Amino acid sequence: MYVERLHLVNFRNYRESSLEFSPGVQLIVGKNGQGKTNLLEAVYYLSRFKPRPFSKPSDLIHHGQPYFAVGALVYSEHRRVVVKVMVGRGVKNFSLDGEAKGSASELRGLVKTVMFSPEDVMIVSGEPYLRRNFLDSAIEIADAGYGLCLKAYRHALVQRNSILGKWERYGQGLPRVLEPWDLMVAENGSYILTKRVEFIQNADKVMKENYPQLSGHDYSPTLTYWCSIRGKAVRQDQNFTQDEYLSALNESRSEDLNARCTTKGPHRDDFRVSFYGKDAGRLLSQGEKRTVAYCLRMAEERYIYWKTGQNPILLLDDVISELDEERAGRLTGLGFPSDQVFITDTRVDRVSSFNPEGIIRVEGGVARVERA
Ligand SMILES: Nc1ncnc2c1ncn2[C@@H]1O[C@H](COP(=O)(O)OP(=O)(O)OP(=O)(O)O)[C@@H](O)[C@H]1O
Ligand SMILES: [Mg+2]
Repeated sequence: MYVERLHLVNFRNYRESSLEFSPGVQLIVGKNGQGKTNLLEAVYYLSRFKPRPFSKPSDLIHHGQPYFAVGALVYSEHRRVVVKVMVGRGVKNFSLDGEAKGSASELRGLVKTVMFSPEDVMIVSGEPYLRRNFLDSAIEIADAGYGLCLKAYRHALVQRNSILGKWERYGQGLPRVLEPWDLMVAENGSYILTKRVEFIQNADKVMKENYPQLSGHDYSPTLTYWCSIRGKAVRQDQNFTQDEYLSALNESRSEDLNARCTTKGPHRDDFRVSFYGKDAGRLLSQGEKRTVAYCLRMAEERYIYWKTGQNPILLLDDVISELDEERAGRLTGLGFPSDQVFITDTRVDRVSSFNPEGIIRVEGGVARVERA
């Protein structure tokens, strides 16, 4: 899978740009603040139809403009598709090969990407919601059913919490009012848990295979899913059933009534990255955390390939400049399984060992493609 053409209108600091890319490694070079990350973000947006963590949709619209549009011609599985999106304040239009689509969920994951960015260290050392976001965003690209379950789960959770917020009003009728939402939470929540545990087990293998090689250490961090429904870490290959989930909801009913919200479920879970039994977020150096974060993104890439048979496009934002020379060299040596890899850097010489097919120079929101 690779992007052949990309068209941007009013996207971040780009006014209007049309670019053509070849498969292989594409270097995006330019000084600070010119639009390198923004270019990667445009490709990312066509894959997820959501801004990246820490951004709002309106941030993506060029200052003072009413909308942004991104379109791409993408080669995927022996055919070419044209994906377009236009987002204004309060309006969103999507299309595939010129045919309008009703919602982003119909197109999400059609273009598969994994973005590596310096902010990824926050997955290791930040708040639990960042780790949950990482899991959800990775799995929903690989499995459209997961995205639908998440949507249904969140809807049911809002309804359930609103009932719990004023439970006294329902008197004896409370169990009957909660029942349909409990069922919906349990049905979708058990699927979400099963998939998240599966992801973490795979990611743990990817970490063990790659962290020692990248870091030069002979020990690798361990990943474990922490499940609030079970009240413990889940290590084995295990499926969650709707019945198990429903009993856990029943058991935590009085706690939920006290808290006036749903105290257990995927929205309260976390995964732990531990090193010698301790929290990696506290123990590791910045560079080591970056290496762990890099392995987590590799795990995302491997999971998408495992589930879909397609290698996602890789978007590597400032990854090399963040590592010491030795680690950067090891990373170069690993190679990439993908058909196309975009790599940003302020200096060409630092990334030229990736044997680029294309070089894109970015200056002041204008990108110019230069063949290598
Ligand atoms: N909505 C927007 N409208 C106009 N400009 C924007 C918008 N959002 C971001 N920018 C600007 O785009 C510029 C380029 O940002 P970008 O993050 O792509 O830079 P970069 O080339 O990756 O720089 P660095 O090397 O520092 O990472 C920044 O100056 C930023 O303020
Ligand atoms: Mg940048």
